[in-house]
Amino acid sequence: MSTDPAPTPTTFASVEDARERLRDVGYLTDDRLATTAFLQSALGKPLLLEGPAGVGKTQLAQSVAAATGRRLLRLQCYEGQDETKALYEWDYGKQLLYTQMLRDKIGQVVEDAPDISAAVDRIAAQDSVFFSERFLVARPLLEAITSPDPVVLLIDEVDRADEALEAVFLELLAEFQVSVPEVGTFVAEQTPIVVLTSNNTRDLSAALKRRCLHLFLDYPSAERELEIIRSKDTGLADALAEQLVGVVRGLRELELRKAPSISETIDWARTLAVLGVTELSAPVLAETLNVVTKYERDLGLATRELPRLVDPNQTVPADRGHGHGHGHGHGHAHDDPGGADGPDGREVRAGKDQPGRHDEAYYGSPSAAPAEPRKVSSSQGQRSFRTGGARRRPV
Ligand SMILES: Nc1ncnc2c1ncn2[C@@H]1O[C@H](COP(=O)(O)OP(=O)(O)O)[C@@H](O)[C@H]1O
Ligand SMILES: [Mg+2]
Repeated sequence: MSTDPAPTPTTFASVEDARERLRDVGYLTDDRLATTAFLQSALGKPLLLEGPAGVGKTQLAQSVAAATGRRLLRLQCYEGQDETKALYEWDYGKQLLYTQMLRDKIGQVVEDAPDISAAVDRIAAQDSVFFSERFLVARPLLEAITSPDPVVLLIDEVDRADEALEAVFLELLAEFQVSVPEVGTFVAEQTPIVVLTSNNTRDLSAALKRRCLHLFLDYPSAERELEIIRSKDTGLADALAEQLVGVVRGLRELELRKAPSISETIDWARTLAVLGVTELSAPVLAETLNVVTKYERDLGLATRELPRLVDPNQTVPADRGHGHGHGHGHGHAHDDPGGADGPDGREVRAGKDQPGRHDEAYYGSPSAAPAEPRKVSSSQGQRSFRTGGARRRPV
């Protein structure tokens, strides 16, 4: 009788199974996430995760790999990347080495050729030897297809890739195959679990979206964020962690260039724990704000708003300085559990994480906002947020 433990199943058996196994590797899901993770593995479809930076998109792919015992292959996308780094390339050095070593043999092949043209034809007839699998270097996409063991393929930050490279992904996503013209088509022996992530710096093509299950991952509910903080053993007392989550959620409502993400909440909790903080006050938080804000302007705005966020009953001076140029009165409600924050608003918000890629109009034209800060209802804020002029593909 074998004493080997049963191998980890490489797919999830149910929503509950997905939830538990992901939790076992330190990833906390909500119903929607656990259902999506299960469905993806049951349907064998690629999953496209969109959402702001730092909400656990990359981590989900890594955790699915850990939970299913699959090897993780990662393709990090970037601007100007070409397909040889994504699919495969020819091992030029090895080809050269072989031709050097085979010089005598090649000499014999062309020895009695009557002219150069005939010699070239004879060499060309040997092409298939040098453009064969032996000289093929698999990059993550081809590797995922040819891998004999089951894998998770993470195509990270696909919105950073050029549209030409995005088109290269289509064959893989639809058929789980990769064509190499000189060699033929490689079809996956083991269907890979494919996860694509996007921070929404540009719209992805409809063709790509059509081939994927789609999930928008937003900032978590207060409850789940607190659960995540607890699970990271930050050392911060529970009551303080709860209060901290509330403050971070308040910061996300501000017009910051880079809203704090889950990883920043974790870092902040660790920082406060290391400092031995026993009570959250605006001055204490202000001293450590640089852990969560990444821009000078954000730091200023967040510092001014902190007293109100720590103690909502506190009145804030009227001139608390809306001098940040745009976006007055955007009372958008990220926390609406009904998900009323539409995709357009999300795109605008996520786009703000990418300074320099968009002009001012992308964030909402300053001239479209009232000159003086005025109170607007949350639904008004959402409407104006949605019409913020996100870059659109022509239709
Ligand atoms: N559901 C979660 N459970 C546990 N940790 C999480 C979760 N979501 C986010 N995190 C934490 O937040 C960090 C940032 O997540 P990451 O996947 O890098 O974000 P993204 O790829 O969306 O920018 C992770 O390293 C992890 O520590
Ligand atoms: Mg990521």
